Amino acid sequence: MSIKNISCLQDIEDIALQKLDKNALNYYTSGSGDMLTLEENQLAFDRIQIRPRFLRDVSNIDMEIDILGEKASCPVFLAASAMQKMANSIGEVGAVRAAVRHNVVHSLSSISTCSIEEVAKGAKDLIEKEPEQNFLDMRWFQLYIYKDRSKTLNLINRAEKAGCKAIIVTVDTPYLGRRLPDIREPFELPRHLSLANFKTGEEELSSDSDQADNGENSSWLAKYFSEEIDPSLTWDDLTWVKNQTKLPIIVKGIMTAEDAHLVCQANMDGIIVSNHGGRQLDSASSTIDALYAITQAVNKKIPVFLDGGVRRGTDVFKAIALGATAVFVGRPVLWALSYDGEDGVNLMLDLLIEEFRMAMALSGCQSVKDINVNYVQKSSKYTSKL
Ligand code: GLV
Repeated sequence: MSIKNISCLQDIEDIALQKLDKNALNYYTSGSGDMLTLEENQLAFDRIQIRPRFLRDVSNIDMEIDILGEKASCPVFLAASAMQKMANSIGEVGAVRAAVRHNVVHSLSSISTCSIEEVAKGAKDLIEKEPEQNFLDMRWFQLYIYKDRSKTLNLINRAEKAGCKAIIVTVDTPYLGRRLPDIREPFELPRHLSLANFKTGEEELSSDSDQADNGENSSWLAKYFSEEIDPSLTWDDLTWVKNQTKLPIIVKGIMTAEDAHLVCQANMDGIIVSNHGGRQLDSASSTIDALYAITQAVNKKIPVFLDGGVRRGTDVFKAIALGATAVFVGRPVLWALSYDGEDGVNLMLDLLIEEFRMAMALSGCQSVKDINVNYVQKSSKYTSKL
């Protein structure tokens, strides 16, 4: 398929699925268990319908949103998916440059294949090369809390020093979820790649490292998590992170109103409603189904974001209608990188943002602030037999 045939994110995904090798494909596509949650993340969007309003002058659509004191061009952000160089040699640097070009938030995984500093440089080079564009540098860093708190602190300090604007703390991964494709055919990081934020010592796991031996869940990544990431975390550890930095702390992996209340009580700065792309607890609900109870509980005290299953502009619209400030896309970035590196991510964002603009216009919303819960309803297909 040539570039002129690409009309939506599914087209990009279809090409990527042909291009990627089995090792990367298994890792990127897999969810945990029977992948019920993975599948639900997308299906649940289809069960929501939009209630359009008309005759409202939609000749100018304003997609801008305020985000931690800055203005993002639209509420479509890039998620912190891991090890992006398996998709394309430019890796996370390609993704951040596309985010900068679109003035949206980029988030970087702790277990990325480009380092915090390389990604910062990738963003800054583009900003300096095209000063007339007034690009913003909205990089956030996703943090796993390591058993070794000095390692955790090192990541926080480096993210701060490299100009990240927020720390995203992932709380849903005390252990890596059981991803059956990974158990059947253990995932390996290709030899020429490494976890770039850890340049020395045993953290720099590559396929040279011992293959895991922890029972059936046997990729080196599963072993890495059980050895390195702290499963004993409690709310006190979140407060510990907050006390280490002046950066806002966004808590990722919240799926219930009860935990959302606790995030607010702990004085955190934001929530990402996420089930880790269906890769942790199988049978957790879709994120879009979990969202409304959480935004109601938070009652605008802090921003609430969503990731999981967002593939169309109408999905973005539905999430905003149910109270999200913005959404993150994860796998679409990987497919776009695989399709055409940085240009692929630019194209993916162009498509998704244009679809969102169209969804707003055809629903009668001039600005993102106009979108609210009155614009959505559950599909009657699921509630009526008539
Ligand atoms: C890492 O965060 C993963 O989900 O594999």
